[in-house]
Amino acid sequence: MACAFRRSIACQLSRVLDLPPENLIKSISAVPISRKEEVADFQLSVDSLLENNSDHSRPDTQVQAKRLAEKLKCDAVVSEISTGQGTVNFKINRELLTKTVLQQVIKDGSKYGLKSELFSGLPQKKIMVEFSSPNVAKKFHVGHLRSTIIGNFIANLKEALGHQVTRINYLGDWGMQFGLLGTGFQLFGYEEKLQSSPLQHLFERLGIHFDEYSGESFYREKSQEVLKLLDSKGLLQKTIQGTAIVDLSGNGDPSSICTVMRSDGTSLYATRDLAAAIDRMDKYNFDTMIYVTDKGQKKHFQQVFQMLQIMGYDWAERCQHVPFGVVQGMKTRRGEVTFLEDVLNEIQSRMLQNMASIKTTKELENPQETAEKVGLAALIIQDFKGLLLSDYQFSWDRVFQSRGDTGVFLQYTHARLYSLEETFGCGYLNEFNAACLQEPQSVSILQHLLRFDEVLYRSSQNLQPRHIASYLLTLSHLAGMAHKTLHIKDSPPEVAGARLHLFRAVRSVLANGMKLLGITPVCRM
Ligand code: ARG
Repeated sequence: MACAFRRSIACQLSRVLDLPPENLIKSISAVPISRKEEVADFQLSVDSLLENNSDHSRPDTQVQAKRLAEKLKCDAVVSEISTGQGTVNFKINRELLTKTVLQQVIKDGSKYGLKSELFSGLPQKKIMVEFSSPNVAKKFHVGHLRSTIIGNFIANLKEALGHQVTRINYLGDWGMQFGLLGTGFQLFGYEEKLQSSPLQHLFERLGIHFDEYSGESFYREKSQEVLKLLDSKGLLQKTIQGTAIVDLSGNGDPSSICTVMRSDGTSLYATRDLAAAIDRMDKYNFDTMIYVTDKGQKKHFQQVFQMLQIMGYDWAERCQHVPFGVVQGMKTRRGEVTFLEDVLNEIQSRMLQNMASIKTTKELENPQETAEKVGLAALIIQDFKGLLLSDYQFSWDRVFQSRGDTGVFLQYTHARLYSLEETFGCGYLNEFNAACLQEPQSVSILQHLLRFDEVLYRSSQNLQPRHIASYLLTLSHLAGMAHKTLHIKDSPPEVAGARLHLFRAVRSVLANGMKLLGITPVCRM
């Protein structure tokens, strides 16, 4: 697929530039489709080539691109070479493109894009993702909801890339009388509470599981050990009030002081986080630990990581905080929401109402369940459209539009493609004639499918789901347009078969991407 093409282009370039193909592959990218014009399939950015070059004289990239293009030749894979703004553009042989992409999508199934060369040589890591982490005695609020869906996405993506992922839910249970978390007994008391709570319900729809539930109270004793350790290293300072602090700047700057012990000798939030991190290192020997919380805790985590560092734990640099912004104005009909059950109920009832206007809804076996899946998709896409760190204004109307860039639209597209396959069956699907898929609508879809690995790569680099979310929305828009023009009914069998093949590939990639984001695709709505 994409990577086979990239390799083939890289090989030709490598002969001309006298550089190993491996160094060139990441400079070759699939070209994003454009509404206005037909685009090439791949491009090489001359700038990124020069970045690899130690010579910083930076000649005019336009001239460089032209000069390079002149030295390259079309072959069995590349059918056209042109230049753009500092790029050399490559068009792939149309039938080869069609065949290769569609066959790869079908063959790789849920692994499409993940087997790409872009990920090859990626060492398998032990990754801990701590997310959700509500406070047991208090209501689960929107921030926890965000942490839950973002953490789940990060864990899904890392796992899909072949890493060994451990999901931790670190409950805020300090000061709870039932928070006596003895070893091997950790969950008792919580389990019951969780099972009946809307939280558990949310986890089950979203398909979220945790490998470990722990809580702050689990670290009561271990926090005392941390205090002793800090003291023995000369890092602990007692104050006149009887509390104990760590001065991270060393010069008394109040903004870099972290209190780690109350005057009665008990620990604080930060102390327990130190104990928890050390404990997890002992237990899991992780390569990376990711904490997902709102941005209000940025400083807290900075201080915790810094304290681990000065305590002599080099692995502190393996810890990472993924902060996210505030959701404003999430109000239900009953008023400002802080309660998860209200959000879930609101989603369901609004969605049921929406779906009542679609005629197939009446035939649904379990409209409640569908409403919930579609509603959660709406919530997730709304959340994942922007940068995680940005705050955003929540609007139910915007969330539930069935035509705009929403999760409802993704679900709707998925269901429509599914019904297409159901209606026309898979009889056609074994063989297809690539020559039948040369309309601009088909080519745009193929070009877009070609980019999936790059999009996954980008999200995996910066842990931002928005690349995948916007990719899937574009894919759905393309599918919608193609659906209007590339008819299956009344087309000759060969054409119908090829089109069905294309639509099946779209649905497969759409479903893969949705699942990564934590959405369960529905087959009917
Ligand atoms: N329970 C905390 C809260 O609701 C979040 C915990 C985040 N994780 C951590 N290791 N401190 O604010």
